Amino acid sequence: MNPKYSSILENVPLPNGVSLKNRIVMAPMTHFSSNGDGTVSDAELAYYARRSGGAGMVLTAVTYVTPNGKGFSGQFSAMDDSFIPGLTRLAHTIKEQGAKAVLQIFHGGRLCPPQEVGGDVVAPSAVASERPGSPLPRELTEAEIEGIIDDFAEAARRAIVAGFDGVEIHGANGYLIQQFVSPHSNRREDRFGGDAHKRLTFPLEIIDRVKNTVSKYAKSPFIVGYRFSPEEPETPGLTMEETFILVDALKEKGLDYLHVSLNEFWSKPRRGADDSKSRMEWILERVGGQVPVIGVGSIHTPDEALAAISIGLPLLALGRELIIEPDWVEKLESGNEEHIAVNLTKQDQERLVIPDPLWGAIVNTPGWFPVVESLSAGE
Ligand SMILES: Cc1cc2nc3c(=O)[nH]c(=O)nc-3n(C[C@H](O)[C@H](O)[C@H](O)COP(=O)(O)O)c2cc1C
Repeated sequence: MNPKYSSILENVPLPNGVSLKNRIVMAPMTHFSSNGDGTVSDAELAYYARRSGGAGMVLTAVTYVTPNGKGFSGQFSAMDDSFIPGLTRLAHTIKEQGAKAVLQIFHGGRLCPPQEVGGDVVAPSAVASERPGSPLPRELTEAEIEGIIDDFAEAARRAIVAGFDGVEIHGANGYLIQQFVSPHSNRREDRFGGDAHKRLTFPLEIIDRVKNTVSKYAKSPFIVGYRFSPEEPETPGLTMEETFILVDALKEKGLDYLHVSLNEFWSKPRRGADDSKSRMEWILERVGGQVPVIGVGSIHTPDEALAAISIGLPLLALGRELIIEPDWVEKLESGNEEHIAVNLTKQDQERLVIPDPLWGAIVNTPGWFPVVESLSAGE
């Protein structure tokens, strides 16, 4: 290994006593490739087996915890015990390669495609997303909200039974949990709505219930992480100031990590904090070392990774890069970092063990992945 990169490969202890073998995390990535009935498919197991050998922790694609939370076709489910056998195979496949396996759990809320949820798109309030073509959702009743909190806790129990090392509560990317936090989507006047503090009721109750479930069922330390997006473009919408309120509350919850969802690691605040620092630096400062933080966003090369962790970041997630280069960590460990690929070609599906639906999305979505005609020497 080139000693210049040794800090990337350092062990990271989590608050619950679990130790990650290095600072690299595989970002959660939906692959649209589970079976039609929501069970885990052989194609997705092969995809994970190929890329779980290097990172300290692998975050799975997001799974839905209740039928009206399904956000994508080809998504897998953790909504009842019949899904435990497939979840067990998934946990085993990841752990067998040496990474900690963490199941990401969510509800899609107003971003669920109507055809995936029998037309019943639900949200904190009847306010449509500003994403083009978004349906008008139905406002959840208080009883339904309580039911969804239970569903998150039950999904965590299934993750424990299936042998996962942890769960990540997906409070980012505009899905149901973020919809409760956001002033754009949460206009409620009951105990789940109100000012920036009151809008945290739903996520904080989910965390409490998940942690209670862990205390009750887990026989060994079990990781509970939380992912959030720091800002929203809409007005009204989340600002850095509101994110600091969220961070302050999350810090007190005994979580094992906070995961900041960003497309660009070095992006600057839009509102609610000045742009003298990146969002990531502001959040790290606010967390103040009380909880490990995961950063992410368009990091490809070891030098970029080194720059990212140099601001005091304990953990760095790689998303698209681990699809393009499943051996990223292994190449760094063996001193072959110059062979780390940062592009892929249209001939690489089989070599990279990428399931058909994900491959289709990669090659048919211009600009999403760095697809090139041919790889140059070393790639
Ligand atoms: C194919 C794909 C699927 C994704 N699915 C999820 C997901 O299931 N859950 C999630 O929190 N983020 C998801 N994301 C966002 C990534 O976790 C990550 O934040 C984003 O890709 C930026 O990181 P990167 O530049 O390293 O890819 C997905 C991204 C990609 C490329």
